Amino acid sequence: MQDVTIIDVSPRDGLQIDPKSVSTEEKATLVQMLVESGVSRVEVTSFVRPEKVPQMADASAVIKAVSSFKGLEPIALIPNLKGYERARIHQLSEINWVSSATETFNNKNIGMSIEDNLDQFKTVVKQAKSDGVKTCFSIAVSFGCPYEGDVSEEQVLALVQKAKEAGADRISIADTIGIATPDQVERLMGKVLQIASDTPVAIHLHDTRGLGSANAYSAYQAGIRIFETAASGIGGCPFAPGAAGNLATEDLVYLFERMNIDTGVDFEKLLDAADYAASLSSKKPLGRIRHVERKKIRG
Ligand code: COA
Ligand code: ZN
Repeated sequence: MQDVTIIDVSPRDGLQIDPKSVSTEEKATLVQMLVESGVSRVEVTSFVRPEKVPQMADASAVIKAVSSFKGLEPIALIPNLKGYERARIHQLSEINWVSSATETFNNKNIGMSIEDNLDQFKTVVKQAKSDGVKTCFSIAVSFGCPYEGDVSEEQVLALVQKAKEAGADRISIADTIGIATPDQVERLMGKVLQIASDTPVAIHLHDTRGLGSANAYSAYQAGIRIFETAASGIGGCPFAPGAAGNLATEDLVYLFERMNIDTGVDFEKLLDAADYAASLSSKKPLGRIRHVERKKIRG
């Protein structure tokens, strides 16, 4: 039995910010390599405005390209009702509904208030349930906001409560700007788990300041068993100034496997996927383990 579940977000969070054009085929190849490594849950794209995030303009084509991959449970990020309308014609396992812990970030990111976002989420939950699609409610900037600074636990916990009442199948707490510290993670995630009760909770990590692995371990200690990371540590949010890549999936898998925490992932195959993800990115990815492992081979 697998001890933890990893959701790789590299095709979406990893690539969305990149000015380099990545083809639909390349995105599909990355997804395929991730699935072959044992990462079956992959956030493959987002149904957002192409004018705002050009890299995600081929969302429908990406879903079509990966639809036949055996074992893949495709997830797509959805920002509003229109996004769900575009997505629902495809066979998705889950939609990742994006919200935020602060009004300013929510406005900059998706152009609406948190209340309007919640209202739309309630509508989408009903549709998704009849469409047979699971819903995740993601709370961006839960540990700190590039515009409002510190974020109180109460703000995050109130949203967790509302997401649960709205019927979310999963709740994800995001450190969008990689500002969290391990003590903060352990405190907040413990409280989130209490409120979420039987609703699964994930943590979404960025490694901006090199604390991604430490924060992942703290979350694990608090009881979190679902982790969102990106192969090779590419990426970031285009609406968060200074945002950098996610915690690298292979860094997390290395950490857990070394501690005998089963991830269900084949590390060598994951390294191949991470190499490929890095090759698609125009920026130097944040992951560390890949360089150490590749140096061992090269001598
Ligand atoms: N996909 C494609 N087009 C969309 C859309 C979506 N999800 N939502 C709205 N639109 C279109 C509308 O149809 C309308 O088109 P028109 O001018 O041709 O009539 C236009 O966009 C404006 O609609 P509006 O409701 O005012 O949307 P907006 O401009 O406020 O944009 C978002 C809202 C959420 C779509 C936009 O802010 C966005 O794409 N944000 C990106 C969020 C993101 O990816 N963040 C990083 C990950 S967290
Ligand atoms: Zn992110």
